[in-house]
Amino acid sequence: MAVSDGELVQMFEHVLKLSRVDETQSVAVLKSHYSNVRTVKAAMEAAQRLKAKVYIVELPSFNATTAMGNDMTAFCGDTALTGNLAAQRALEAADLIVDTMMLLHSPEQEQILKTGTRILLAVEPPEVLARMLPTAEDKVRVAASAKLLEKARTMSVRSKAGSDFHAQLGQYPAVQEYGFADEPGHWDHWPSGFLFSWPNEETAQGTLVLDVGDILLPFKTYSREQITLEIEKGFITKIHGGFEAEYLREYMAYFKDPEVYGISHIGWGLQPRAQWTAMGLYDKNDGMCMDARAFYGNFLFSTGPNTEVGGKRKTPCHMDIALRNCDVYLDDLAVVSAGNVVAPEASLVR
Ligand code: FE2
Repeated sequence: MAVSDGELVQMFEHVLKLSRVDETQSVAVLKSHYSNVRTVKAAMEAAQRLKAKVYIVELPSFNATTAMGNDMTAFCGDTALTGNLAAQRALEAADLIVDTMMLLHSPEQEQILKTGTRILLAVEPPEVLARMLPTAEDKVRVAASAKLLEKARTMSVRSKAGSDFHAQLGQYPAVQEYGFADEPGHWDHWPSGFLFSWPNEETAQGTLVLDVGDILLPFKTYSREQITLEIEKGFITKIHGGFEAEYLREYMAYFKDPEVYGISHIGWGLQPRAQWTAMGLYDKNDGMCMDARAFYGNFLFSTGPNTEVGGKRKTPCHMDIALRNCDVYLDDLAVVSAGNVVAPEASLVR
């Protein structure tokens, strides 16, 4: 299957309109050598059709010598923008940045957002962008659950596989991802549809058991056996199980940085068009597999950096791990039960 260039422009026009782009707006398209040229071109054309002032910021190739793999989340922190203040100012001058390069998890992204500039990340292939083209309802659904997350003081996760995890909330903001960037300083990712925050420092505690079929990113693997993570005072202290636990242990140890074991964002998937099965249908280099992060009713947690909300952990290793069949509680309120979204405010809009 393939999306035509014309359709791709139309999709961008739709998403830029949702992102409040019009003739009063300036749009910067951020690209590097690996950006999808069709995506860059479609973003430019759509912005022009909406009569916005549009320009490209192109940055040179960047390589971290310790990085392994081609996934865009396999190395976090430093990017081609690091230390390039002139380019950063050019991006801050825009009302909206379409990021086809990936600034996520860099301190520069947070600095740009603080100026009020909005950022929309778009790095998945056109066919994935099409399948999860955002709608206004996506925002309504995520925002409804965000109201619950914003007032919650704890998040707890339990599962039949053995997870029993607890974290206090409130130190860091609740972050909504619904697929378009419509408010000043808002970062979003097309495609997406989930909600998360970060545990208060040193409060994440307990056990998370990855069951058969749970997803590890950036490995892009479905777990074939259980992996148990023991967590104390915000950090993973033990990883045990069989081969897959050993692989995860070795991978994280490779970075030689105690910060990689910190629990980073925690939340749950709210995108009905994202599929748990999708990852099995794509090659590893096809994209970053947002289906796995956003599928409806997952519990998504991660490890490593928290610089995108002003935290101090700038570390290159970031695991996103999506668990199925969990119960997720905000204080005493169940928002996900055995992998089904049950918070009434959220399940209204599906
Ligand atoms: Fe993540």
